[in-house]
Amino acid sequence: MKTAILSTEIIQKLQAIVSPTFLFLDEETRKAYGHDETEDYVFPPSVVLKPGSVEEISEIMKVAFQYEIPVTPIGGRTGLSGGALSIHGGIGLSMDRFNKILHIDEQNLQVTVEPGVVTQTLQEAVLEKSLFYPPDPSSRGSCFIGGNVAENAGGARAVKYGVTKDYVLNLEVVLPNGDIIWTGANTLKNSTGYNLTQLLVGSEGTLGIITKIVMKLLPKNNHNILMLVPFFNASQACEAVAKIFKAGITPSALEFMERDAIDWTLRFVDGVSLTIKDEVQAHLLIEVDGNYPDVLFSEAEKITEVLEQFDIDEILFADSEDQKNALWKLRRAVGEAVKANSIYKEEDTVVPRYELPKLLEGIKSIGNKYGFKSVCYGHAGDGNLHVNIVKGEMSDEDWTTEIPKGIRKIFELTVALKGTLSGEHGIGYVQKNYMDIAFSTTQLLLMKGIKTVFDPKNIMNPGKVLPDNL
Ligand code: LAC
Ligand code: ZN
Repeated sequence: MKTAILSTEIIQKLQAIVSPTFLFLDEETRKAYGHDETEDYVFPPSVVLKPGSVEEISEIMKVAFQYEIPVTPIGGRTGLSGGALSIHGGIGLSMDRFNKILHIDEQNLQVTVEPGVVTQTLQEAVLEKSLFYPPDPSSRGSCFIGGNVAENAGGARAVKYGVTKDYVLNLEVVLPNGDIIWTGANTLKNSTGYNLTQLLVGSEGTLGIITKIVMKLLPKNNHNILMLVPFFNASQACEAVAKIFKAGITPSALEFMERDAIDWTLRFVDGVSLTIKDEVQAHLLIEVDGNYPDVLFSEAEKITEVLEQFDIDEILFADSEDQKNALWKLRRAVGEAVKANSIYKEEDTVVPRYELPKLLEGIKSIGNKYGFKSVCYGHAGDGNLHVNIVKGEMSDEDWTTEIPKGIRKIFELTVALKGTLSGEHGIGYVQKNYMDIAFSTTQLLLMKGIKTVFDPKNIMNPGKVLPDNL
């Protein structure tokens, strides 16, 4: 697909749909909507549109379909796989104005929300009604719920409560030809035909544009216990993870941070201090939640018994809301802190959780072979390790030639361990040419077939998810 150049005639048609106020051709806006949080990539769309209704999006798509213009849906721009980058130019479709929580259904424990609502805003709005939306990506303060659905985002609480897909019941979607559909029903159970809802979840803006989301909610929990556990050996921290579940406990968060991750973040965020012994190599951040403090105390005790089988320093139990918030602030900021430290690439590896020690050790030995340093952290309870490969002192040449080989080896390792390429960040632009490691040609052609049914002219977020040479 060639990069789109939009004629005056097309611009006028688009302007007639959204009004001149919500059509932007200036370089500053195009640049601002041309990047997300993926490395330092910038791919500005030719034009940024900020539609205000599903009908307007439908009209935009009819024009795009007729003239074969690429359209990239753009949410909060916090993505880490380049899903929102307009790599072929065309229309950057900002969902900024779809920012309303339409209905909190307290009878059915459901919420109907527009995709441009910030995830934390949604969490807080339902909490006011004593309801709980568990998925909790680190970017919750600025990511959009629509982007969470498009990427099937996870976050720290997924280990007990599941990821975004587990909360999506029904979606309103504009298809590439401008048709508007609902994908399912507002029910907890649904065995009616193919599951279009879950096909759209995680489709990274390549099949259609999500304009309304119906999600299930849970009753809120009233209590939690949070502990930070320093390990003298990073592999042991990974080993402890599966043992905690084996002891019969499902924590509401079980996070891993390598030493560098925590040190760099302590320097990066304000107002959080911790004293860590030099010999400490990694930490687990463990939370249990529920409604009965006694139960939580006995769960924390069981976890402590498991941890004491390993070589650990003193466990820090957060003793106030402030301390809990500080520890979570630290954990949530790791990604940004690493990014601020060096040019880097992030891989979102995921394996069955018992394989985590093998994954960590394998990554380190691949790093030694290909000459890179990595900082690892992530959702250990899910076997989901974010591998940040830092450029540091590496030469530009080695960075461009050796790193892709090293990344391929890392993904081969995850697949050999019965894992896959991405647990929660998606494939997008940066991971697409590694898809052959996880899927055969037959599998990839099935995906391409689905893409073609939805998007016969390949205008919906082209150049994402599927490999270039398919
Ligand atoms: C996190 C994001 C990067 O776990 O997924 O902080
Ligand atoms: Zn994460």
